[in-house]
Amino acid sequence: MMVMKKINLGSAGLTVPIIGLGCMGMTGFEEGHIYGEADEQEAIATIHRSLELGGNFLDTADLYGPFKNEQLIAKAIDGQRNQYIIATKFGWEIDDNNKVTWAINGKKEYVKKAVERSLKNLNTDYIDLYYMHRLDKNTPIEETVEAMSELVKEGKVGYLGLSEVSSETVKRAHAIHPITAVQSEYSLFERTAEERGIRNTLHELGIGFVAYSPLGRGFLSGQIRSIDDLPENDFRRSIPRFQEAHFHKNIALVKAIQAMAQEKKITSSQLALAWIINKGILPIPGTKRRKYVEQNIAATEIEFNEADLSKLESIVPLGTDTGHPYDEFSMGLID
Ligand SMILES: NC(=O)c1ccc[n+]([C@@H]2O[C@H](COP(=O)([O-])OP(=O)(O)OC[C@H]3O[C@@H](n4cnc5c(N)ncnc54)[C@H](OP(=O)(O)O)[C@@H]3O)[C@@H](O)[C@H]2O)c1
Repeated sequence: MMVMKKINLGSAGLTVPIIGLGCMGMTGFEEGHIYGEADEQEAIATIHRSLELGGNFLDTADLYGPFKNEQLIAKAIDGQRNQYIIATKFGWEIDDNNKVTWAINGKKEYVKKAVERSLKNLNTDYIDLYYMHRLDKNTPIEETVEAMSELVKEGKVGYLGLSEVSSETVKRAHAIHPITAVQSEYSLFERTAEERGIRNTLHELGIGFVAYSPLGRGFLSGQIRSIDDLPENDFRRSIPRFQEAHFHKNIALVKAIQAMAQEKKITSSQLALAWIINKGILPIPGTKRRKYVEQNIAATEIEFNEADLSKLESIVPLGTDTGHPYDEFSMGLID
C-alpha cells in the first residue's frame, strides 16, 4: 500500500501531505454551480476516500457557497476533526444576510467576525491554516496580519496564509507574523507567480507555495473539448482562457500534453500534477468524485525526471499566452 509523502509547509511547523484536496466544486455558489452539478453524498465520500489514501489536507473558503462549502466539510469530518488539516479563507466581504458584497475586507473587526463564522460553519474550535483570500487594497496588510496573528494567540487558528499576493505584500506580512503558505493559481497554463518572482520570494522566506486550480480548472484534464461542454451557469464561461480567442489554441496544447501522458501511461491530469509536485509546490486539485481523487493522489507516486520536465515545458514554455485566468473585475483584485 502506498504511503502518502509529507512536507513541511513553511517553516512554522505545519506538516501536510504533498497534495491537498480542493473542495470548492463540491457545493454550488449562490444561485449557480461552479463546475457543474454537485452531489452531496459523493462529495462527502470523496473527502472520506481522500483521508483513507492519506489526503487529509482540505481547502475551502467562506466565500464558497457562501458558507455551504464549510458546512459540507463540517458534515464530512464530523467525529473525525483531528484527522484532518483544514484550510479556509476570508476576505470577500459577506454581509449579515449572508450576501457576498464583492468588496474585499481586511479590517481588524472583519477578520474577527469572519473567523467566528468559519469556526461555526466548520463546527470546530480551530482552523489549521487561515488564509486572507485577497488583499484589501484599502487596509494596510500589517493591520490584517496583526488581527490574524491575534487569532493564533487565541488558539483559534494554527498557521497563517495569504492568497494571490505580490512579493512586497508577502514580505510586509511575514515581518508581522510568520506566513506559512501563499496560495496562487499555478498550473501549466498559469505561471504568473513564477514570472513575477513570487515563487522565488517564497523560497527565500521559507514560505510554502500552494498551487490552486492546478488542473487549469479542468482544462488540463483533456475532458473539455468544446465550450459547449460547460453548463450554461458554469463559472468557467466567464474566464478568457476558456473563451473563443484562446480556446482552440489551448485545446491544441492540451492534446500535446495528453499525447505525452499517454506515452507515460498516465492521464494528462496526473502529468500536470506530477510536474507541480516535482517543483516542490503543493497542488490542491479540486474534485467532487472519488474516481478523480484516487487518480490525483496516485500522481504523487509518478516518476518525473529532468527529461520529462524539458519535454513538458517545451510543449508549454514559460510565457505561453493561454489567456487571462479571470474576467477583468477579478483580475483587478489580484495584488
Ligand atoms: N485562492 C483562490 O482564490 C482559489 C481560487 C480557485 C480555487 N481555489 C482552490 O483550489 C482548489 C482547486 O482548484 P479548482 O477546483 O478551481 O481547479 P482544478 O483543480 O484545476 O480543476 C478542477 C476541475 O478538474 C476536474 N478534475 C479534477 N481531477 C480530475 C481528474 N483526475 N480527471 C479529470 N478531471 C478532473 C474537476 O472535475 P469534478 O468537479 O467533476 O470532480 C473540476 O472540474 C479549489 O477547490 C479551491 O479550494 C482557490
